[in-house]
Amino acid sequence: MKKETILSGMQPTGSLHVGNLEGALRNWIRLQDDYWMYCCIVDWHSLTASYKDTSGLKDAIFNMAVDFVASGLDPEKCAIFVQSEVKEHAELHLLFSMLITVPTLTRMPTYQEKKESLDSYGFLGYPVLQAADICLYNANKVPVGKDQEKHVWMAKDLALRFNSTYKKVFVEPEALFTEIPLILGADNRKMSKSLDNHIPLDFTEKQTQKRLRTFYTDPKKQRKGDPGNPEGCPIYLLHKLYTPGAKEEIVPNCKSGELGCVDCKDRLAQNLNEALAPIREKRAELLKSPDVIWDILATGRDRASSRAQNVMDKVRSAMKTNYRKKKK
Ligand code: TRP
Repeated sequence: MKKETILSGMQPTGSLHVGNLEGALRNWIRLQDDYWMYCCIVDWHSLTASYKDTSGLKDAIFNMAVDFVASGLDPEKCAIFVQSEVKEHAELHLLFSMLITVPTLTRMPTYQEKKESLDSYGFLGYPVLQAADICLYNANKVPVGKDQEKHVWMAKDLALRFNSTYKKVFVEPEALFTEIPLILGADNRKMSKSLDNHIPLDFTEKQTQKRLRTFYTDPKKQRKGDPGNPEGCPIYLLHKLYTPGAKEEIVPNCKSGELGCVDCKDRLAQNLNEALAPIREKRAELLKSPDVIWDILATGRDRASSRAQNVMDKVRSAMKTNYRKKKK
């Protein structure tokens, strides 16, 4: 069977955290053996929210690339690149913007949620740019969380619209949902950097333990001896990922009260730190030679560009807009 293509994207928020690792990255790492992988750091998307202060973008991109590689994305198998370095993303975004109506975009839940504070033309077009990211590589699969379902659907819709308006150029992309449960943070909401309830991969072991100590747990379990309820507890959720035999080791002892929350958190800290140790080591090593990271991003850009140019040639030819002879 022909090897299929995957495109995934992440906004450059700087260093990654356990939620990114378990919710997205591990899945990408698993997929890189079987697909042509393109991992796009979507800096233009991040401008929709923070166009005023761009001073941290370069560092954020760098740190994200470091964490990608330290976690196990292999730059040999996977093109890791920055969206704004492949200008064709902007070109296809513009062409796609002709094929979609404004009301379709204003109805998107992601727009509805934030339109009071964010009502720029750029933010309205966020899903169109995402569709361009996906279709530019003719990606068959897009690994995303459930919250991105409508965006992938829109990419498919735009691909079909383009094909029926001009000529068949695009494949129909499909979402590939991760089966990992939602990772919750210290306040029992989705783990995210903006809520500051997260465990960054670049925390020290001590910081990790300290942060876990602040995590929400069953409010009915006040002290050791009180019976607790592991289901829905953010600490137990992480135990399931990091503690072998968590079901037998943690559940009965939490329920009976024998295991107190502090001990339970410290046990998790130990296991989590053990699991993160190789990533943290690799991270420290990569930080010693930043050029390696910038080279990885340059190689990724070149590979992505060549694929993107190939698809855009087909787009221009389908639209009969390839007016000039190709440069020699
Ligand atoms: N919108 C995605 C998110 O917030 C990020 C993204 C941009 C993306 N372009 C993409 C994800 C293309 C997958 C494919 O998570």
